[in-house]
Amino acid sequence: MSTIADFSLDELREHAVDVFRKGRGTRPDVLLVEVAGVRAVLKDQNACDRWFAMFVGPLLAWREARALGRLKGVSGIPELLARPDSRSILIEFVDAVEAKSYPHMDDWRTWFDKLERLIQTMHEAGIAHGDLRSPGNILIDSNAEPVLVDFVAASGEGSRWNFIANSVYRGLCAVDESAVLKLKSRVAPDLLPDPEASTHVGGKPGLVLRTIGQTVRRLSRILFTSK
Ligand SMILES: Nc1ncnc2c1ncn2[C@@H]1O[C@H](COP(=O)(O)OP(=O)(O)OP(=O)(O)O)[C@@H](O)[C@H]1O
Ligand SMILES: [Mg+2]
Repeated sequence: MSTIADFSLDELREHAVDVFRKGRGTRPDVLLVEVAGVRAVLKDQNACDRWFAMFVGPLLAWREARALGRLKGVSGIPELLARPDSRSILIEFVDAVEAKSYPHMDDWRTWFDKLERLIQTMHEAGIAHGDLRSPGNILIDSNAEPVLVDFVAASGEGSRWNFIANSVYRGLCAVDESAVLKLKSRVAPDLLPDPEASTHVGGKPGLVLRTIGQTVRRLSRILFTSK
């Protein structure tokens, strides 16, 4: 019997029941799909502008799939279910809301301990997320557990002598850690040891990496999209 993971991209799109994000420019479609009561998230770079989808889309889908593959089995990170085509990924759906808009948390301190442990587990598995400072990428599920999504900017730890990959990786790990401070400053500022800490972006390497990331995104927009 075929499951949701066996469906083609067209079939999955026909089964979309909700839209998390409508794709355009450099942004993918992020759709909730449902087949026989099973829900999943389809992230489809085909929905970006034509040239961006053609040249950059496969790379983004491949990067995200590779990071999710390396994190398979880590609780709090949705599982990669399938690659419907070279520009799309199908991911386990988690019933969750953005952490920054969570209506009522009894104990933020305990929750942040769990978030820090999840980020540490991810780093121990050799993956730095790189975009946890974006508000939509740290979620809270129906059991009040932290969930991380959107691994498109993730970077893997390099082999021992790959100094460039490893310095990028370490910089992005620092950016991930700074995202915890940023979120604390929004939802539980009393947990911050230093009120200024939320402005730190993983030190100098983190700041440089963020600037490079933003410049690449801006350049891609100019080169490959109509916006
Ligand atoms: N596996 C999932 N389960 C539940 N909701 C999800 C899942 N993946 C994504 N979402 C929801 O969809 C939103 C957008 O997804 P995502 O952050 O992956 O895309 P994006 O930010 O538009 O893309 P990108 O940064 O790659 O251009 C998330 O903020 C979250 O609310
Ligand atoms: Mg996102």
